[in-house]
Amino acid sequence: MIRLDNINKIYNKGRKNEFYALIDINLHIYPGEMIAVTGKSGAGKSTLLNILACMDRPDSGIYYWYDQPVGRFSEKRMARMRNEKIGIVVQDFALIEDFTVYENVSLPMEIAGRKRSGRRDKIQEVLHIVGMESYANCKIRELSGGQKQRTAIARAIINEPDIVLADEPTGALDSDNTKMVMQLFKDLNESGKAVVIATHDPDITKQCGKIIEMEDGRIRQHT
Ligand SMILES: Nc1ncnc2c1ncn2[C@@H]1O[C@H](COP(=O)(O)OP(=O)(O)OP(=O)(O)O)[C@@H](O)[C@H]1O
Ligand SMILES: [Mg+2]
Repeated sequence: MIRLDNINKIYNKGRKNEFYALIDINLHIYPGEMIAVTGKSGAGKSTLLNILACMDRPDSGIYYWYDQPVGRFSEKRMARMRNEKIGIVVQDFALIEDFTVYENVSLPMEIAGRKRSGRRDKIQEVLHIVGMESYANCKIRELSGGQKQRTAIARAIINEPDIVLADEPTGALDSDNTKMVMQLFKDLNESGKAVVIATHDPDITKQCGKIIEMEDGRIRQHT
């Protein structure tokens, strides 16, 4: 599904504070995999996820999406891919605080051009999956951290992406919410989606079939 071929990411390229955040990353991601990305703070986990999410482009190397080099995609095609093929969950949720749960989850479908009548059932279904149906009309700023995270997951999966990328999705959650969120990711994975989770939590790492351990911008170990 995804192949990274010798990917390098350099921040502040050509300047004094030039920094190699990813060095010669080679990686395959297959449909249905559940992957943990681990490593110390600054190891490059978020940088790798941002590249995988097509939110950032590498400085060299090739990103293949189903055997097609993403570097040749237009901005428009990249935007469509981010919205419809890749589900993204970031640590600070990136939800619109003044919108309701329903409105936030609806947004990616609106961007994809789905009609209102076709959106309603799907939104109800996804809110049910994440256990947020009774909060549909609540504003985001009225929710707890765990509820925000479940809303963010609902938004990430509303367009039925092939892969879900989550950057420390449980970093701000207590153990009950962490369990609930992990169960959601496992269910998603069992429904056939690839799931990639950047995490510091050994409990979460244990629950993933594949572990990518990063160190100083390199993949140190791959199991
Ligand atoms: N926009 C940026 N400009 C310059 N340097 C950056 C930028 N983003 C990240 N870096 C640097 O790149 C390195 C990798 O950062 P990254 O955020 O990928 O690490 P991480 O493994 O996700 O760490 P953490 O566990 O703290 O989230 C760090 O040294 C960081 O300072
Ligand atoms: Mg990070």
